[in-house]
Amino acid sequence: MTAQPEIAVGTPQSRVDGRLKVTGRALYAADHPVDGVVYAAVVDSSVGRGRITDVDTSAALAQPGVLTVISHRNAPRLPYVDNPGSNNPPGTRLRVFQDDRVLFFGQPVAVAVATTLEAAQHAARLVEVSYAAEQPITDVTSAPANPPTTYARGDAETALGNAEVRLEMTYRPARNHHNPMEPHATIAQWDGGNLTVWDKTQWVVGGTQTELAAVFGIPQQSVRVISPFVGGAFGNGLRTWPHTTIAALAARETGRPVKLVLSRRQLYFGTGFRPAYDYRVRLASDRRGRLSAMSHDIRAETSSYEAFFEAVMAPGQMLYSMPNVRQAYSTVPLDVNTPIWMRGPGFATAAFVIESAMDELANELRIDPIELRLRNEPGEDPSSGLPFSTRRLRECYSVGAREFGWSRRNPRPGSTRDGDWLIGTGMAAAVYDTGGFPAQAHVRLHADGTALVQSATSDMGPGTYTSMPQIAADALGLTMRTVTFRLGDSIMPPTGPHGGSTTMASVGTAIQDGCDKVRRQAITLAVDDPRSPLHGVDPDDVIVRKGRMHVKNDPTRGETYQQLLTRNQRPHLEVIGTYAGAVHDRFSMFAYGAVFAEVAVDSRLGLVRVRRMLGVYDAGRIVNPKLADSQAIGGMVGGIGAALLEHTVTDPRDGRIVNANLADYLVPVNADIKDLRAIYLNGNDPEANPIGVKGLGEIVLVGIAPAIANAVFHATGRRIRDFPITADALL
Ligand code: MOS
Repeated sequence: MTAQPEIAVGTPQSRVDGRLKVTGRALYAADHPVDGVVYAAVVDSSVGRGRITDVDTSAALAQPGVLTVISHRNAPRLPYVDNPGSNNPPGTRLRVFQDDRVLFFGQPVAVAVATTLEAAQHAARLVEVSYAAEQPITDVTSAPANPPTTYARGDAETALGNAEVRLEMTYRPARNHHNPMEPHATIAQWDGGNLTVWDKTQWVVGGTQTELAAVFGIPQQSVRVISPFVGGAFGNGLRTWPHTTIAALAARETGRPVKLVLSRRQLYFGTGFRPAYDYRVRLASDRRGRLSAMSHDIRAETSSYEAFFEAVMAPGQMLYSMPNVRQAYSTVPLDVNTPIWMRGPGFATAAFVIESAMDELANELRIDPIELRLRNEPGEDPSSGLPFSTRRLRECYSVGAREFGWSRRNPRPGSTRDGDWLIGTGMAAAVYDTGGFPAQAHVRLHADGTALVQSATSDMGPGTYTSMPQIAADALGLTMRTVTFRLGDSIMPPTGPHGGSTTMASVGTAIQDGCDKVRRQAITLAVDDPRSPLHGVDPDDVIVRKGRMHVKNDPTRGETYQQLLTRNQRPHLEVIGTYAGAVHDRFSMFAYGAVFAEVAVDSRLGLVRVRRMLGVYDAGRIVNPKLADSQAIGGMVGGIGAALLEHTVTDPRDGRIVNANLADYLVPVNADIKDLRAIYLNGNDPEANPIGVKGLGEIVLVGIAPAIANAVFHATGRRIRDFPITADALL
């Protein structure tokens, strides 16, 4: 067990739920024991677009154990009330089994429900669906786009026309899927008009609870969502997907609790993905590398029924100082399911492009890539004119260059060899928005001196169960092991989505607020109590350490919470702590980083190996350096995947995803991962939020892929602008 320091924040605590997870006792969505549960298996469309002409369920229904097969032929009409507070993008969400339209390959068209999983899966295969198929459109580069969202400052076209140096490139980042270990799953149970779901979700209240209430047209309080553990999500739990509705619908139709687990294959079209982009960028600079303009023409795939947007425009507006910026961001509706945020959403895609383009400019001008960035480093946010709450990107570059050994680099591409391998180094900047959503937390200090803190947030892996008690312990003056934190139940106080690197800022601040208030309640009770050794002391002179209140300058004068509450016959003190959300109108608030990569490229086979990576992060206060390292290494692994391996491939003939499995959708494995290291600038950003954090989970993926691409260029002299960079592209 890790030592229990007096101050927990900033110490490398192990996960308090680690033992539960490695012994299999942590219950994920499909693991919850529910009496009388039956099983659902979804039938997916085998055409990419068209109409259902017939659904023959006779063979399926004839099987033993099969309770029902539901399709648009027999499904009740569901209210599908609008839910503007959710993460549903603009458009009309997919309405399961409400009509005969097929909008994408793999769309759920029926569900079989049976008393065993095997019977449900067998029955689903026996459902005969006939279609009038149409030709789907799936190519983001060639399909017609929606009208763009635009941004302009200055006059980019004129600046480009007058520039000493002008570059124009098109980059094409591929579609990526999240591929979490835990598949999406729901168990749904009705009790009269009340629905309980055990669900995999990153947004218990505002997501799953409000969405199910809206879909079924019932009050929000009639839906209870339970989600204590999430086995990885990366953004894919930020919406409520059709299978959750299907489980609830099947439970209502059969009168039984229903368990529905998507297969690994179904995750590729039953939930979202990082959209493919076609991204043209133009740069204008002088010969010394001072940028005068950038122009961004951005095309991103979305579905035919919803327009999914993400923050892909922000980095181009604020990462570098220049007077002229022009952006046009168009979604391209295709016959695919709707995309969703995926780790570092928008920013990671923009960084692919901008940080590759900056490397191309550095090479063109024969300027060191770090020096080029320093020459364009803004003093204030160029998009808003606001001061930065903190921006220590220069320090990230200098610490990173020193620790990585950047100065040893021969700048000439293709200049370094190790046998058959060409060796290259590259770097990129990273940036991600610092935000915070309104949040509440219930804090209860018990008479036995322990505390229970509860908030309806999630923990998809960053370690929420561990980091929140660190905040609470310090604010209450307790050791971590006397604080228990519970999450993941809609009966707990609400929070915003567990995403966007906001959970520590939001939930952590609400917890700190609640714990501060409870600590002050206890101190007030003591100083007002004639039987307390603290009677009559100024409350501001009382501090709490390891559960004992004492006079700041006289540790002998005091008593424990336990003594105070027991003597006063108070079973507990409690309060709801709150956070109102981030305020963005006084400061420009972002986390920053500098990423360095060394690659080896086999000169005859085109294979790329990442030999080492270093990320240096300006991410505000680091609550738990051990968990931070887990985040940073995970982000780098994800970035290596995006740079070199990950690519969801669609067959243009029928819209089928041809690699919807973990054998053909390539992700890095241990053999691909060598020396990964992260450094955090010792920081605190009190303008960003009361606990001074800037968010870490997303930025650690941003900048990884372009640093690798830039290293591949340095190794080979070959610039690959389609991601992932594959061996065939390098040959
Ligand atoms: Mo993150 S993409 O908001 O889970």
